[in-house]
Amino acid sequence: MCGIFGYLGEQDAVSLVLEGLKKLEYRGYDSAGVALIQNGELLSHKEVGKVSVLDAKIAEKGWKSGLAIAHTRWATHGKPTQINAHPQFDTASRCAVVHNGIIENHEAVRRLLQKRGVSFQSDTDTEVISQLIGFLNKGNFLRAVQRALPLLQGAFAIAVIHQDAPEEIICAAKESPLAIGVGEGEMFVASDAQAFLKYTRQAIYLHSSELALITKKGVQAFNARLAPIEKESENLDHDAEEVTKGAYQHYMLKEIYEQPQTLQNALLSRFSEEYGSAILDGLKLSEEELFKIKRIVILACGTSLHAGLTATYLFEEKARIPVEVEISSEFRYKNPIVQENTLAIAISQSGETADTLAAMRELKEKGAKIVGICNVQGSTLAREVDSCLFLRAGPEICVAATKTYTSQLIVLTLLSLRFARMHTMSQQEGKHLIKALQALPSQVKSILSQADKIERIAKKYAHYDNFFFLGRRYMYPTALEGALKLKEIAYINANGYPAGEMKHGPIALIHENCPTVAYCGDSVTYPKILSNLMEIKARSGKVLAIAPEGSKEIQGIADDVIYVPKTLDELSPIPATIVSQLLAYYIAKERGTEIDQPRNLAKSVTVE
Ligand code: F6R
Repeated sequence: MCGIFGYLGEQDAVSLVLEGLKKLEYRGYDSAGVALIQNGELLSHKEVGKVSVLDAKIAEKGWKSGLAIAHTRWATHGKPTQINAHPQFDTASRCAVVHNGIIENHEAVRRLLQKRGVSFQSDTDTEVISQLIGFLNKGNFLRAVQRALPLLQGAFAIAVIHQDAPEEIICAAKESPLAIGVGEGEMFVASDAQAFLKYTRQAIYLHSSELALITKKGVQAFNARLAPIEKESENLDHDAEEVTKGAYQHYMLKEIYEQPQTLQNALLSRFSEEYGSAILDGLKLSEEELFKIKRIVILACGTSLHAGLTATYLFEEKARIPVEVEISSEFRYKNPIVQENTLAIAISQSGETADTLAAMRELKEKGAKIVGICNVQGSTLAREVDSCLFLRAGPEICVAATKTYTSQLIVLTLLSLRFARMHTMSQQEGKHLIKALQALPSQVKSILSQADKIERIAKKYAHYDNFFFLGRRYMYPTALEGALKLKEIAYINANGYPAGEMKHGPIALIHENCPTVAYCGDSVTYPKILSNLMEIKARSGKVLAIAPEGSKEIQGIADDVIYVPKTLDELSPIPATIVSQLLAYYIAKERGTEIDQPRNLAKSVTVE
């Protein structure tokens, strides 16, 4: 995690890096800092809290410089304190480093340097980088960085400046993203190119174990042995438009309300009504390759994992292809077996989740074809996969995923339709599914029009500290996702569970102060979940049900029911999820939590 931003040019570097950092706050926001060189002197300031806190302090200083690096932190090693914030320095405070990633052997390097008389100020792994560079610097700054890199294990992206080289930024990357923006007489460095798009669309990406010397004149990249390498700049076609909250109190609410449009975008030109099939231009696999796929492995984390779990039902039932969904962080340590004709689907809205990237690389190395499902063009995932299906959801600013999740469900449904029509599904069935997909945006609108009712119900349940979220079949991953939203933004202990498993242990936790949110949108298992809810009621548990219009029986069981428009079982996660999102939002609002940037979280999880 963490966001790096650097600038070298004729403009006011300090205000520019602070502006850049604000665009990177989704990567972490527990502390921030800046370092610059003014009149040959290295100056810096760090603050605990968001970039706005740093900004206010820096404004008082009146610093002027054409070179600065800055950092917004998500703490890994060491608490979020001023000392632990980045930049970190060498003993002489002549060299400053900002870092994204983790140095896994930081203890060993620290001990080695301490034995040679270096004393450390912070608890961070990053300080070993700055101290090591300072220790190795014998008058050639670039050479010192190059010599330090092979001694560091882990994943990292760094930007380094030195008082003795006031016109240079040195960058290096190993399995962490770093983009260099090439402007006219000015250069940028950022963890995400989006942060400098306003100034330039030309970007150079550093690959693993590469470093770069940046001056106003340009970029010279080197390999690990410091041999110069040629790197082409890429022309980015992102939409650099500023995203604002508009009239909404939070980005989360705005993003929830965008879903009728984002669902439409995810569907746009991706199906043929006539043939009842999906058209996925991003899928760079031949008809023959697709036909031969015998097994699908899905890699994802968090909300994206829940989309993947939903897809198991879709692919297995509709296309009859066996699917395994793997938690990325666990998968790579399994020494996975990759049989011939295995397709891997890596799902990540950000395209930067370190665990998913590592798992995907492992599978790629073993010969699997990789399809990415991602929202961010130019992200590491999008650049490394064989084919990428974009969500087209637009930037998602709130840390909690909302619109990207429902778009992931749409793209996965289309992909399963593509496979299903090759194998088992009739044209008629395909047409039926497409019709139901087309109806979703207006169905979502009708759920959004019930927001007042959902808010009233949310207020009624907001004081409980423990919840169960239950569902079966398509509603099981939907329940997991509902529970995750409540945990993340309202800080409530919410247990997502398959309803049928309750009697095997968890039902012991049910009592009058532990309500259950019950997802009743799956028609095949509807009678079964009703019985499970009766068992909850028999133990004085309260039930808030989310059920399709026309479900009568639930009224006699649940304490409260929120009705959603009826759709096919395979699409029922979408309407139910819109309710979960609003429910979590209004409960969090009632409890006064920081909805868009919840504590301890970050939008891009770039450390393993
Ligand atoms: C939940 C949430 C996280 C992410 C997870 C994976 O609201 O946002 O659980 O889903 O960190 O992120 P991506 O999809 O970017 O790989």
